[in-house]
Amino acid sequence: MRKILCLLLLSFATTAVAAPDPHSYAEPDKFLVRHVSLDLTAFFELHRLKGTAELTVEQKDPTANILTLDTRDLEIESVRLVEASGREKVLAFRLDDPDPILGSRLSIFFPECCAAPPQMRIRISYRTSNEANALQWLDPAQTFGSKPYVFSQGETIRTRSWIPLQDSPAVRVTYSARLQVPPDLVAVMSAARVAQAGDGPGVFRFEMRQPIPSYLIAFAIGDLKFHAFSDRTGTWTESSRLEAASYEFEDLPRMLAAGEKLAGPYRWDRYDILIMPRSFPYGGMENPRLSFISPSVLAGDRSLVATVVHELAHSWSGNLVTMSSWNDFWLNEGFTSYLERRLSEEIYGKRFADMEDVISRGELVQAIEDLKAAGHEKDSDLKLDLAGRDPDEGSSDVAYEKGRWFLGFLEGRYGRPAFDAFLRGWFDAHAFQSVDTETFRGWLLKDLARPGAPKISSDEIDAWIYGPGLPATTPVLPTDVFSALDRAAKDWREGRIATASLPTKDWVPMEWVRFLDEQPADLPDAKLAELRSAYNLGAAGNAEIALAWLQLAIRTSYEPAYPDLERYLTQTGRWRLVSTLFTDLARTPEGLALGREIYAKAKPGYHPSIRDEVERVLKLKAPTASGQ
Ligand code: BES
Ligand code: ZN
Repeated sequence: MRKILCLLLLSFATTAVAAPDPHSYAEPDKFLVRHVSLDLTAFFELHRLKGTAELTVEQKDPTANILTLDTRDLEIESVRLVEASGREKVLAFRLDDPDPILGSRLSIFFPECCAAPPQMRIRISYRTSNEANALQWLDPAQTFGSKPYVFSQGETIRTRSWIPLQDSPAVRVTYSARLQVPPDLVAVMSAARVAQAGDGPGVFRFEMRQPIPSYLIAFAIGDLKFHAFSDRTGTWTESSRLEAASYEFEDLPRMLAAGEKLAGPYRWDRYDILIMPRSFPYGGMENPRLSFISPSVLAGDRSLVATVVHELAHSWSGNLVTMSSWNDFWLNEGFTSYLERRLSEEIYGKRFADMEDVISRGELVQAIEDLKAAGHEKDSDLKLDLAGRDPDEGSSDVAYEKGRWFLGFLEGRYGRPAFDAFLRGWFDAHAFQSVDTETFRGWLLKDLARPGAPKISSDEIDAWIYGPGLPATTPVLPTDVFSALDRAAKDWREGRIATASLPTKDWVPMEWVRFLDEQPADLPDAKLAELRSAYNLGAAGNAEIALAWLQLAIRTSYEPAYPDLERYLTQTGRWRLVSTLFTDLARTPEGLALGREIYAKAKPGYHPSIRDEVERVLKLKAPTASGQ
């Protein structure tokens, strides 16, 4: 008896369900959605999608009679149970008042009379609000062409604003979709395109056969064209950007090959990218089979393509093995940043990767200090507690960079070949699963218990996961990557090197960034003017160099650069670029006034989520409950 009990306990321990997701109303232990089938029409004049979502639902708990789903600003018209025979039964439902963070719980009631079949189809007729926070509807003037555009951004909890579903990364679904769009536009999704005879113009069908979390369901509709790099990679973008994108990302097949060599087989068939309009709020978004990429990466010289390497790496960390709640966000982003760093080293060499290490460590140390100063030191643990807060708040350098250094620390102790084998094993064993930090911790400790494993204590591991800031075991940085550059910068500042003689010819953007970042706030206007005219620093050109230049202009109150600052801020809606500049502006009263003036003009081009954040930075809006 005792033995049986032990076995039972043991099997319970290994299959234990993770804690409920604090950012979803779903109860997947009662009913589990396995497949989502969409039939939606895009109405550009109304800024709305309208149609049906049919959910294939499995009953997990035979006593359950309410299916709860996540929604946000949806107008639900009807809910029906579709029987195997095709007969439909109308079901009662209730839409609760919205919670500001979570949206509205949708409860669907099953009549007590009828035992539910183990799998059933629930069809919901609905339309989205014109304020759906996943969607951005763009006028032709906000695109690179002369036609309108719309796209979705699901991460973190925005998919519920265009599909009623279990919007938790712990729940994985396959999906299919039929999208009806204006006949002169093209639709793409994070799924395979499938054709069906008899479909008229403007009808597009898609199929995602691998189970994915809801935040990865995505679409875009616009004047889109395609260029193939190989038989399994290519780029989509608006007609006028196709040539530029074809040049910039020509290395895509090589990146994919490097990814497979490091992390194991690519399991999504195709890898394409979609170069987005300027307002796209992120550098990139890892929608499976089709990463969405900001056009700010189109530098003309392939110098910023590491963003694509990052999104590609998510094909393993994030898309194949997914965090099960936003508290485990580092499992997605820290792993991906680690893979990105390894792939950079493989593709661009050690010097490039070392520069990335030095620059990003500086940013991480700053981010940790800022969290501490704001009284949020706990947010510098890898494992987060975001209950009651907007999960977007979990997205800081801590998840990306501290997460990456944790894996860098493990790599150092294991040795590279052994750690690579460990990582491969992790991806293979958890493919198409959603897991939490504790699952990783358990897997790691188990591996460390095997004979011949490196000596790493659970205290050392827990200092990374459950402790603040950077632990004592943080790997040291390479020391001399920037020393020649720093010397040249000093000589220039002190007049020993003329502006035109700076050795900038071979500088990559990270070297420009280092050079500009190191300049002090009292750099004389004459020096700034020389720099500006000698190197044509402004709003055009490389987005990262321009960012560092404009930050310097703000720091030194260099007014001749302000028109460029305005141009830059009205030409990109990418969160990191925009928030960095507005945050710098908000440090002084004059800067804040200028920031508000520029924001009034730039606002129409920003995604709704970015507007909220910028308004907080510019103190036009109250901070969130946590004070961030
Ligand atoms: N998954 C993220 C984007 C994201 C994070 C969207 C949190 C919503 C909430 C994506 O993979 C990412 O990390 N993008 C980075 C670029 C990358 C090169 C670090 C970005 O947008 O800056
Ligand atoms: Zn990422």
